[in-house]
Parts: sequence; C-alpha cells; structure tokens
Amino acid sequence: MRVDIVTIFPGFFDVLDVSLIGKARDRGILSMHVHDLREWTHDRHRTVDDTPYGGGAGMVMKPEPWGEALDAVLGEDAVLIVPSPAGERFTQAMARELAGESQLVFACGRYEGIDQRVVDHYSARGRVRLVSLGDYVLNGGEVAAMAVIEAVSRLVPGVVGNPDSLVEESHEDGLLEYPSYTKPAVWRGHEVPPVLLSGNHGAIAAWRREQSLERTRTTRPDLLPDAG
Ligand code: ADE
Repeated sequence: MRVDIVTIFPGFFDVLDVSLIGKARDRGILSMHVHDLREWTHDRHRTVDDTPYGGGAGMVMKPEPWGEALDAVLGEDAVLIVPSPAGERFTQAMARELAGESQLVFACGRYEGIDQRVVDHYSARGRVRLVSLGDYVLNGGEVAAMAVIEAVSRLVPGVVGNPDSLVEESHEDGLLEYPSYTKPAVWRGHEVPPVLLSGNHGAIAAWRREQSLERTRTTRPDLLPDAG
C-alpha cells in the first residue's frame, strides 16, 4: 500500500519511521510519502490560507495549492481522505475497508478547513471520504490522519507479525476486548482469575466472551446489536 500525506506540517509525521509502521516501510509492505503543501504555492510568503467569504472567524485554506498538490499526488485508484470533524465517523470496519486499497492520500487541513470546492472537485473525479475521528475538534487533520494510518496499516497483511493478534481485539467482533493477564499469578494481592490457570480452553473461551459482553454492556452499550 502507498500512503501520501499532504500537510503544512510535514514534521508531524516523523514518528511514522518508528514502530511497526517503520518496519513495514523498511520491508517494502508500506510506502509513506509526506508532502509539504507549501511546495505548491507560488508567492513569496507561500500563502495557503485566506479570509472566509461571507465573513466569520478564522482562515480557510485556499483551493489552488490543494488542486496542484492533489493533481500531483493522486494516483488512478487512490482514495482521498480528508480528516474533518464534519466527516463520517472512523471505525474498525472502515479501517478494514481501507486496508484493501492500493493508495490512500490524506489531505490535512488546518484553520477552519479547506475550501469546499476542493472536495467537490475530487469527488466528481474519484473516491473521496471525509473522516472524523470522533465528536471533538482537533486543530487540524494531522493527528486524525496519523490515527487512521496506524489503524489501517496494521491490517495490511504482513505489517503485524502474528495475524492471530488482530482477530481477538476490541471492535473486531463488535465487542470490547476481554481483560488480559500475565505472570506473576498474584501481584500486590490481586489474583489472576483462576479459570485462566485451569488449562480448560472451552471454559477460558466462555469466560472471555462473557467478560467482553459485560465490558461492552457497561462501557459501550451502544455497540450491542439491540442498542437500537
Ligand atoms: N480535524 C479537526 N477535528 C477533527 C476530528 N475530530 N476528526 C478528524 N479530523 C479533524
């Protein structure tokens, strides 16, 4: 998979060189390309924003640099992802869908967002998704893009060493993950649940399922099928 990121803060993405994503990059499974939007400006001040038509607070990102940048970066089959608090909510299901794509291009806006005509223009020519991380406002798309990149890239075959570890985690079966324990069997007086030491795989699976359901009922009842 190829990932391109267009941003006015390319340094934000230096951390992609470390951890699993860095390793996947080294092994050629993922390629990441970070582009500075200002490379596609032509004035002395490398201007990327201007005041909003209609008035109001804040600045809006100008369409021209975005048009040139995206024309240069978007490949034939790319999905353009625009992080925005006004987008559809990012979920594990969306991460799974995106993990099957050959190119993802992230357009990271700042200020009050990008001139709407940019999204309109590329929506008419290809696939564009406005994606929100959640119901809160970040200063820009960079942190959201990073979260989406991490959630998606770990689902690309070969990025996570043991694929079994992807199966039993939170959200994969629509529930929150059960609690995990390791040695020692007693820590500061807290014991590991005895069933986990029993060697009875059926009983362990049933206990874990019940724990997942209980956690989900308590913390995230909206995830249960009858949540309506
Ligand atoms: N940009 C600003 N806030 C955001 C959010 N909640 N999700 C995605 N992108 C954003």
